[in-house]
Order: sequence, then C-alpha cells, then structure tokens
Amino acid sequence: MTDVVLGMGEVGSTLFDLLEQRKISCVGIDTDKSKCKNYSENNLMEAEFLHVCIPGEIENFDEIARDWTNKITGLKAIIIHSTVRPGTTKKVQEKLDLPVIFSPVRGVHRRFLQDVKRYSKFLSSDVKLADEIKSEIEKRFEKTQWMSSTKTAELAKILVDTTYYGWLINYAQITKIICDEEKVDFDEMWKFADEIHENLGNRPKMYPGIIGGHCVIPNLALINNDKLDMIKKINELFEKYTDSKV
Ligand SMILES: NC(=O)c1ccc[n+]([C@@H]2O[C@H](COP(=O)([O-])OP(=O)(O)OC[C@H]3O[C@@H](n4cnc5c(N)ncnc54)[C@H](O)[C@@H]3O)[C@@H](O)[C@H]2O)c1
Repeated sequence: MTDVVLGMGEVGSTLFDLLEQRKISCVGIDTDKSKCKNYSENNLMEAEFLHVCIPGEIENFDEIARDWTNKITGLKAIIIHSTVRPGTTKKVQEKLDLPVIFSPVRGVHRRFLQDVKRYSKFLSSDVKLADEIKSEIEKRFEKTQWMSSTKTAELAKILVDTTYYGWLINYAQITKIICDEEKVDFDEMWKFADEIHENLGNRPKMYPGIIGGHCVIPNLALINNDKLDMIKKINELFEKYTDSKV
C-alpha cells in the first residue's frame, strides 16, 4: 500500500509519519525539494490515496490538486486536509470522476502527531463512497466520523475551531481593556466566572493576548464574512492598546 502526501509542511510531514507508523508506505512531494521523501521526478507513481496538505489559500489550489491526481495511477480517492475556502472540495470534485474527500486537521504545532492521533478524523464527501474506500480510510485514521457534506466540514474547521477560538480571545481582550481602564485586577475579576464554568461549562476564561500565528486570523480571509471580520478588528484594537501601554 502506498499513499502520496502533497505539501510536506507541518501537516503533511505529520501525516506522512502517522501513515508510515500505520504501515502505509508514503511518497512526500513538495515544491521545496529538500522536503520531498521517497520521490524522484522519474518515478511514475502508483498510489491508493493522494493527501493534499498544501496551503488552502493558494489561488489555483483546485488545479494543483487535479494536476497531481492526473499524474498518479491507481488512485482510489483524494483527501484534502488543508483548511480551504468553503466550496473548494466541490470545485475539485466537479472535474474529477475520482471521489474527493475533505478532512480538516486539528492540532497544536508542538504536539501535532499526538493530537492527530487523539482526535477523531472528521471526513466528508459529496459523492457516495464504496465501502472498500471507507474501510481503507478507517485503517489509516482509526477513529473517524463522517459529515454529510464537504461544505459542512469546511465550515466546521473555520467556524467552530479557529474562528471560535479567536472570538473567545476577543472577549478576554475587551474585558482586559475595561479592567485596566477601571483599575481592576483582570484575574481577580474573572474568578467570579470559575464556578459557573465548572458547573455549566459555558464561561471559559481566556488569556488576553494578541492573536498571532497562522490560523485564526488568516482563516478569516478564507470565509470572507464581514460579521466575522470583527474578530480581526478587535484584535487590531487590542494590539494598538498594548503598544500604547509600552
Ligand atoms: N499547521 C497547523 O497547525 C495546521 C492545523 C490545521 C490545518 N492546517 C492547514 O493545513 C494546510 C497546510 O498547513 P501547514 O501548516 O502544513 O503549512 P506549511 O506552510 O507548513 O506547509 C505547506 C507546504 O506546502 C508546500 N507547497 C506549497 N505549494 C505547493 C505546491 N504547489 N506543490 C507542492 N507543495 C507545495 C510548501 O513548500 C510547504 O512545505 C493549510 O491549509 C493550513 O491552514 C494547518
């Protein structure tokens, strides 16, 4: 059994290691030649699954995914792990007979492999999948859950993972500014929410830092929704506020 991983960055190289641990041999491809593994330009590839892990914001993402699909023989399906604009998987599927699966990734950089194993792998397809394909996927990811459409899973990655996290941090940023203005201790005030959170699980206290990294804010651009852009604006306001205090 061989799979191809396209895009050997954080996600792709972690997936590569996971698949190899699960006895699936892998070929890793990247535009950065130093990241390629078991790949030579002369070897005509034969593989079962193509795992797409290149950045989702690339303009011609769908063309790149299709081009590689056409270069590999014996493919049973493509799995897109990248975080993409909602509707991207359907666009890739429209011009291919092969099933295209969308499967968002969850995890924190420093313990990525551990997280990928810990969380269920959510999967989705807009075409009916043969039982054989489903069982091959379950062999690779072990804990799986299926969603009814690729758009549901594409939105889930942005709306209830990274953006939701940003939304929660925004509230900490706003309350921090108010506490400072009122000369009140932020942590002491937030203690009032602890027991409610313990009982009901609906008053999480977040750290009031600046949202950085390459997930929360960049993923807002993929959804391009003016209501959600508020998260970026509050973050910018908080950044200006912190700068003004230095
Ligand atoms: N890193 C994370 O924590 C994380 C978590 C969840 C989802 N994601 C998503 O997964 C995707 C990949 O993220 P990442 O962190 O691995 O990115 P990364 O920048 O670490 O890696 C992307 C890799 O793709 C390669 N690449 C770019 N264009 C290519 C092309 N046309 N052909 C072949 N290789 C190409 C780059 O050289 C790079 O090595 C993104 O959509 C990201 O949003 C990342």
